[in-house]
Amino acid sequence: MAPERETDAVTGVETTGHEWDGIRELDNPLPRWWLWTWYGCIAVAIAYWILMPAWPGLHGYTKGLLHASDRANVATELQALDVQRGSGAAMMRKASLTQIEQDPKLQAYAQQVGQSVFGDNCATCHGIGGTGGKGYPNLRDDVWLWGGTLEDIQHTITVGIRSGHPQARLSQMPAFGRDGLLPPETISDLTEYVVKLSGRPADTAAVARATPVFAAQCVACHGVDGRGSQAVGAPNLTDAEWLYGSDRKAISGQIFSGNGGVMPTWGGRLSPETIKALAVYVHANAGGQ
Ligand code: HEC
Ligand code: HEC
Repeated sequence: MAPERETDAVTGVETTGHEWDGIRELDNPLPRWWLWTWYGCIAVAIAYWILMPAWPGLHGYTKGLLHASDRANVATELQALDVQRGSGAAMMRKASLTQIEQDPKLQAYAQQVGQSVFGDNCATCHGIGGTGGKGYPNLRDDVWLWGGTLEDIQHTITVGIRSGHPQARLSQMPAFGRDGLLPPETISDLTEYVVKLSGRPADTAAVARATPVFAAQCVACHGVDGRGSQAVGAPNLTDAEWLYGSDRKAISGQIFSGNGGVMPTWGGRLSPETIKALAVYVHANAGGQ
């Protein structure tokens, strides 16, 4: 049944005949502003379809007269970045470590690359800025376990330390206590000996007892005078820098358990140019040798 249309007495406008609980709908025209906005939207949409990529099809999509493509834009930008980086990387590949460090432009490039790669890959262990922590050497001082020349640092980064890489820097201090090589009293005597080596007051009788033991068990790696050896990554025991701590507890703990820090190999993961940049970055910020 068709709705009944009638003229509203108050407004004089015809009703649509729809009625809900006594409320009736007036058949007013749409507001002009609304209608024009709507026409406008339709026009913009049609113009957009024509100019820009829009409609999906079975084998792709309509490309639009402007041939706009974000994918192509990204590709162009990446290409530009490659050219920019490529020249930097190419220069790094050709130059020797010393040349990089001495050429202000290459040095600046290495610092920039080095800093960002260090933040992403090394700071987790060596600390932001490379100041290290217990078991993780400070890379900002000029105390080196495995050597502080540009080449030493490059090699350490490339092969790692006790990393499982076939050429890794490798050595293992025996676990004198845990493996029962030395009795606890001797370990505490040796602890006094190491304290004495680093120039601090120590129990003289214990030091005397430990002297022959140190000569027999420790000098092979730490040297006759206790100054260590970079060939085996054995720290200098006479200075104030400690990998595991300077107090008696830390020292006897290391003699007991013979910890050996592990540093991953980066050779396969970072390009040779990046490792060069890192070596220069670490060396330059460490007052390197
Ligand atoms: C998973 C932890 C870890 C990460 C990540 C790490 N290192 Fe190390 N690194 C170590 C440890 C542990 C040592 C000390 C090993 C030892 O006791 O001989 C070390 C030692 C070094 C040394 C030798 C220091 C010396 O005194 O001879 C250099 C250089 C070095 N790291 C640079 C880097 C660089 C550059 C990166 C980033 C590409 C990096 N490390 C990432 C753990 C790490
Ligand atoms: C086979 C070589 C080797 C022998 C032998 C050896 N050490 Fe070590 N020692 C090392 C290495 C390598 C380290 C560093 C471990 C690391 O980098 O994680 C070390 C570290 C230490 C440390 C910690 C230094 C620090 O900076 O925290 C002490 C203390 C120490 N050794 C004492 C001794 C004493 C005492 C003996 C003899 C009883 C001895 N070592 C025998 C290789 C050796």
